[in-house]
Amino acid sequence: MKEENALPVFPESGLPRNQIYCMDYLELSRRLPDGSVSMILTDPPYGIGYHNSFASCPHPPIAGDDGIDYGHLARESWRILQEDAHAYFFTRFDCYPYHYSCLKEAGFSIKNCLVVEKGTVGGIGDLQGSYANNSEWIIFCQKGRRTFSRTTLLQNRKKEGSRYHAGREASKKYKTRFNACWFGGEYPKATCNSTWQKKHRIRHPTIKNAVFLSWLIQISSQPGELVFDGFMGSGSTAVAAALCGRDYLGAEICPEYFEMAQERIAQSMKGVESRCQRSSLYGATPAAGSPCSAAASPRC
Ligand SMILES: C[S@@+](CC[C@H](N)C(=O)[O-])C[C@H]1O[C@@H](n2cnc3c(N)ncnc32)[C@H](O)[C@@H]1O
Repeated sequence: MKEENALPVFPESGLPRNQIYCMDYLELSRRLPDGSVSMILTDPPYGIGYHNSFASCPHPPIAGDDGIDYGHLARESWRILQEDAHAYFFTRFDCYPYHYSCLKEAGFSIKNCLVVEKGTVGGIGDLQGSYANNSEWIIFCQKGRRTFSRTTLLQNRKKEGSRYHAGREASKKYKTRFNACWFGGEYPKATCNSTWQKKHRIRHPTIKNAVFLSWLIQISSQPGELVFDGFMGSGSTAVAAALCGRDYLGAEICPEYFEMAQERIAQSMKGVESRCQRSSLYGATPAAGSPCSAAASPRC
C-alpha cells in the first residue's frame, strides 16, 4: 500500500482503524489530528545498527537503525496521544538515558521502566565477559494521568474478600496492581523465540510476543479504543490489539515486514493464538500449563 501522497489528513471523526500503512511513521502521524489516539505502544529502531549475525537465519539490517530522530518521534507521539493516556516505548539499557530525556522533554511524565523476560536468552556477544541480555526494557509514560483498567490477567493469591489489614479495602479476585518487573511463569514473555518463528513462518529480528503486548493494552486501554504503533514490524501490536478487542493503526516502512504483518494478523484471527487468547482475555484465567496459559505462552 505505497500511497503516501494519496493519504489525506484524517478528520477526527473518521480516523482509519485496523489499518497498517506501508510508509514512514512520520508521514502517517502527521496526518493524525492532535489527541486522536488512545494509547501508544511502539518499538522503534534504537539507532544502534543492530545486526544479529549469530542467528541461524540472518536478517538484513533494520530500516532506520542507523538513527531516527527520537526527539521528533517523542514530540509527535505526545501530540497525537489523547489526554490522560498511556504510552509504552521499547528501549535498551544503553539508549535509555537518551530516550528518557527526549520523552520527558516532549512533555511525558515517565512513570516506570518495565523489565520483562525475553522468550529466549539473548545469548550472543561477549558472553565470556558480559551478561546475556535476557530482558526487554520498556519506558512506560503518561500524558496527564490515567489509572489502570480492571483486568482478569492475574489472580490474587489471597482469597477474594480477605483483608490484609483492618480498615483496608478487601482483596479482589484479580490483581489491580502490577510490578514493573515481569519474570516467571505468571507472566508472558516479551519476545517470540526462533522455534515459534519457524513454526509460524514469521521471522523478524526484533519480533515481540503479541500475548505480552495484549497484557499492556488491556491494562492501559478500554475495548474499542485506538492503539497506535508507528513501527509495526511483523504486526505484533496490531495482533495484540485485535485479540483484546481494541482497534489499531500504524505504519511499517519495509514492504516485506508490512506483508508479513498482514499475513500474521490474518493468521492470528483464525489460528490457535487467537483461540487461546480470546478465551484467556475475555474469560477466566486459563489453568496453568494449558495451551492458553501465560506459563505456556512463552513459547511465543
Ligand atoms: C524494532 S522493529 C519493531 C518490531 C515489532 N515490534 C515486531 O514485533 O515485529 C522496528 C520496525 O520499524 C520499521 N521502521 C524503521 N524505520 C521506520 C520508519 N521511519 N517508519 C516506519 N517503520 C519504520 C523497521 O522496518 C522495523 O520493522
